[in-house]
Formats: sequence, structure tokens, C-alpha cells
Amino acid sequence: MQVSTISFDRFNVLADNEAQERIRAARARLGERAVLLCHHYQRADVYQHADLTGDSLKLARLASQTDAEYIVFCGVHFMAEVADILSKPSQIAILPDLAAGCSMADMASLAKVERCWRELAEVLGKPDELITPVTYINSAADLKAFCGEHGGIVCTSTNAPVILDWAFSKREKVLFFPDQHLGRWTGFKKGIPLDEMVVWDPDLEYGGLTPEQIRKAKILLWKGHCSVHQMFQPVHIDRWREKHPHGFVISHPESMLEVCQKSDYVGSTEFILNTITQAPPGTHWLVGTELNLVSRLAEEMKPQGKVVQFMAPTVCMCSTMQRIDPQHLAWTLENLAEGKVVNQIKVPAHEAELARIALDRMLAVS
Ligand code: 13P
Ligand code: SF4
Repeated sequence: MQVSTISFDRFNVLADNEAQERIRAARARLGERAVLLCHHYQRADVYQHADLTGDSLKLARLASQTDAEYIVFCGVHFMAEVADILSKPSQIAILPDLAAGCSMADMASLAKVERCWRELAEVLGKPDELITPVTYINSAADLKAFCGEHGGIVCTSTNAPVILDWAFSKREKVLFFPDQHLGRWTGFKKGIPLDEMVVWDPDLEYGGLTPEQIRKAKILLWKGHCSVHQMFQPVHIDRWREKHPHGFVISHPESMLEVCQKSDYVGSTEFILNTITQAPPGTHWLVGTELNLVSRLAEEMKPQGKVVQFMAPTVCMCSTMQRIDPQHLAWTLENLAEGKVVNQIKVPAHEAELARIALDRMLAVS
């Protein structure tokens, strides 16, 4: 018999401090049966409850290693899908708010990637023999399954360079989706000329490219981007450097090429945190990644006299990640403490099996 769940309506109206208390009480009841995984972009009032934190690669590994019955993922939808795929069949992955998606992940769909593959076949012949599909982990499970099925692989912002080496060791071209910026920066660092990295526009026939461009390309970059990281502009770095000539600039590789080129360091959220945390006291930093992470880091670094500033003049948060608030977390955990599972993320078995192939390839080489 289905146990009826506690409705969210009663939680939606909770004051923040009450939601916090109820999170703590529910967690005490659940004990080790639930583990809370938090991405670095999570808001502070949720992040404080994390058992484990990380970037997307670290969290994928942690999800595959935990023995907890419930993996409560404070992140976005694709991350909870990865947790479901990599965890044991008996474990349950949960996303406290199902509306916490990723706008970049939504820029590529299976139907459009399959159409791209068919059009590439028309121009090049057998794509499975010529092209390695590489999907950024910020993508739906069915796209990871596509990569699993077609000799491809998943990458994250941490391991993209080694994954690209792996991809080129298998075939001569790469189809990289959905983030053109991560693909371009990674290819650029490997010395691939910019005119051999062409943008595939999924809304146009043949990606808007000529057969010549497709034949010449080493990397076909899907026309997708992160709405947060596209806000960072080269001019923000130029202006800051005028005032802080001895400061350092560090950016996430979802930022555009010109921003990455002007940065002293480029890397994942975990890399950004580690680099600034380990930097000498008194140093000054401009950071091109999501605001929650930068604000938290700025506070944490103050005692060491390090100054950490956000790159854009406007507020740019990951608005989807922001949806995981104390109210949704309290609601999720109280239901679990009552033995009622809400917001389970379950990838269909066949899709999960193929996606796991692409994820296991990634974990094996990174
Ligand atoms: P990380 O790989 O650094 O966690 O980045 C994921 C992400 O979505 C950044 O926007
Ligand atoms: Fe997706 Fe951008 Fe949010 Fe990262 S910051 S989860 S890429 S929308």
C-alpha cells in the first residue's frame, strides 16, 4: 500500500529558522540512513547541512561510494541522475525540488543530438568510426546513454583535458555537447586551431555548417552555454587589473574563451576553492564563477587577509540550484524520517545501463 506523503504546502510557509530546526530534527531521526551531498553553488542556508561537498566529479565519485539508504542531492537534476546511476540499486537518490534543473543541460536533447549524428553520417560516412561523442556531465541521462552506446564518454570541468585525449585516441573527431565554451577552451589549450573547432547550431540543418567545414573540423562544439558564466566579460577583468595589478584572476571553464585567456587560472569549482584556500595570506582574487560560492569563499578567507571578489557587476546566481531551499530540504527529510520517499530521481534501467558505460569510462581515465 502506498503511504501518503506529507504535503509541501505546510512547509512552503515555514519561516527560515523554523525550517532549519526541522531539518536538524529530521536529520537526527534519520541518522546514517541519509547522506546530504551538496554542490559548491548551493546557498549558504542549505550548504551548512552538507555531509559532503564537492564539484560535479567529486560528488559523482562520492555518490558511488556511500552506503546510505537515501542520497539527498542538494544540486541540480543531472547530478541526482548521476547519483542514481552510480549508486547501488537499493539506494534512493532524491532531489529536494524537482524544478532544480540546469539551463545549459536543457540546451541539448536526445532528438537533436540524434539528428546531428544522422546529418554527420550523410556528410562523413560512418560517424561511429570517425567521431567520439563527449558529453559534459551537465546533460540529461539519455545523452550520457547516447555516448555509452556510440563509443563516447562523459567529462566534467575537472577532467575535460584527459577526456579529450581519450576521445582523440579512439577516433579523429569529437562531437562535444552541450557546452561550447568548455569544449573550446579545452581544445584551445591542446593547440587545436580555432577554425578547426566549429559551432554546431542544433536549430539549423547540418548545424549551419558547410560540408567543407564539417570535414575540416577536429571538434564540433554544440551551441550551448551556461547563462551564469556567460555574464563574465573580458572588460570586467581589464578594469579590475587596472586597480589590482598584483591580484590574480581565476575562472570556471564555462566562461567564454576570452575570459579564460585573460585569467591566471582556469578550473572547476573544486579547483577554484583549493587554489584560493591554499594561496598566501594577503592575496587579492577576482573570481569568475557562481555567486554563492564566491560569497562564501570571500567570508572564509577574510581572517587570512585574502580579498575575494566576484567578477560581474550584476548578481548572477545559478537560479535553478537556488531552488533547493531550507523549506524543500525540511519537507524532503521529514518525509524520509516518516518512511515516505518524495522526489526520487530514477533513471529508466536501459538508459541507466548505457549511461553508466560512459560514466565508468570517465571514472576509469580521470
Ligand atoms: P563543476 O564541475 O565545477 O562542479 O561545475 C559544474 C557546474 O555546473 C558549473 O556551472
Ligand atoms: Fe547549469 Fe550554469 Fe547552473 Fe552550472 S551554473 S548548474 S551550468 S545553469
